[in-house]
Amino acid sequence: MYKSKIKGTGIYLPKKVMTNDDLSKTVETNDEWIFTRTGIRERRICSTEGGEFPTDMALNAAKDCLAEAKLEPNDIDMILFASVTPDAKLPNSACILQTKLGITNKCAALDIAAACSGFVYGINMADSMIKTGMVKNVLVVGSEMLSREVNWEDRSICILFGDGCGAAIIGRNDEDDQSEVLSGILGADGTGAEFFDQPVGGSVEPIAQSHLDNRTHFMQMKGRDMFKVATRTLADNAKTVMKRAGVSMDEIDWLVPHQANIRIIETTGKLLGIPDEKVIVNIGKYGNTSAATIPIAFYEAIKEGKIKRGDLVLFDAFGAGLTSGATLLRY
Ligand code: UT7
Repeated sequence: MYKSKIKGTGIYLPKKVMTNDDLSKTVETNDEWIFTRTGIRERRICSTEGGEFPTDMALNAAKDCLAEAKLEPNDIDMILFASVTPDAKLPNSACILQTKLGITNKCAALDIAAACSGFVYGINMADSMIKTGMVKNVLVVGSEMLSREVNWEDRSICILFGDGCGAAIIGRNDEDDQSEVLSGILGADGTGAEFFDQPVGGSVEPIAQSHLDNRTHFMQMKGRDMFKVATRTLADNAKTVMKRAGVSMDEIDWLVPHQANIRIIETTGKLLGIPDEKVIVNIGKYGNTSAATIPIAFYEAIKEGKIKRGDLVLFDAFGAGLTSGATLLRY
C-alpha cells in the first residue's frame, strides 16, 4: 500500500475587503456585536465582473500548488473541487478548472458537495485513492463565492460569510519521506439538514418569481442549533483520528479547524484540551468561507512559519448536511 502527503498549497483571496463597519451601513448591526459573537472583523468579496469566480480563484491557487510541488498540470490524475457555490450547475467546476489549467491527460474531475467539510472530504478521499495506487497526484480545491448566495438584507447570516479559495496537491510520498497522511474520518448526520439549508433552486422547488420577490431563495441557518452540534462533532472527530493513528493530544502541533465562529473554535479547543497557541485562527480576516477555510488557514500558517515540515497537523471540519470530517497528517 502506498502513502500520501501534502506536496503543495496555494490560495486566492478576492481583492475587495468588506469590513463590519461597511456592513453596518446596510443592515442593523455593528462591529462590536459581530466581533464579540463571531470573531469576524472583515471578509473578502469576489468581483462579479469576472476574474474572481470560483474556478478563477482555483486556477490561481492551483498554479501555486503546482509550483511548490514541482509538478506540471498533466501530472494531476484527479481534481476534487469542493464548493457549494460552483461556477455553474453543469459542467462541474472540476472540469472547468481542468481546462483552465491546460490539463490534457483526461484526468478525473469531480465536484464535492459537502459544504464546509468539502475540503477535508477531498483530502481523505484522495488519500484513500492514492493508497490503493489508483491515482498518484490529486488537486483538492475548496473555492467559494458565498456572497452570491447570502441574503444581504438578513443580518443574522450576511455577517458570517466571505469568499475565497484554498487548494492543495496531495500525492504519493517517497518511501523515505516522513510526511504522510496518518488517519481520517468522514461523516454526516442528515437529521440536522434543516439547521442549514437552501431548499429553493433544486429539482423539488425550482426558483420562481415568488422566491425572488420574498427573498426565500438564499441560504438559511439556525445558528444556535448549528453551534451546539458543531462543537461536539468537531471534538469527537478529532479524538477519533488521533485514536486511529495512536497519537495523543499532547503530540499534536497544530489544530486547523473550520473557521465558522471563534466561539466554536475556542469551545472545541477546550473540549480537546489543546492550548490556544496551537490552534490556527484567521476568521477575523475572512469570515466563514465554507470549504475554503481550512486550506486558507493551513496555507497562511505555513507561510507565517508556524506550521513546518514534520509537524503533526489536525484538520477538523463541520458544515451543512450536516457533514463533518477530520484528517491527521504529518506535514
Ligand atoms: O459553517 C457552518 C457552521 N456554521 C455554524 O456552525 C454557525 C454557528 N452559529 C453561530 O456562529 C452563531 O449562532 C451566530 C453567530 C450565527 C449567532 O450568534 P448567537 O449568539 O447564537 O446569537 P443569536 O442568533 O441567538 O442572536 C442573539 C441576538 C438576537 O436578538 P434578541 O432576539 O436576543 O433580541 C438577534 O436578533 O442578536 C441579534 N442579532 C444581531 N444583532 C446585531 C442577530 N444577528 C445580529 C447582527 N447584529 N448581525
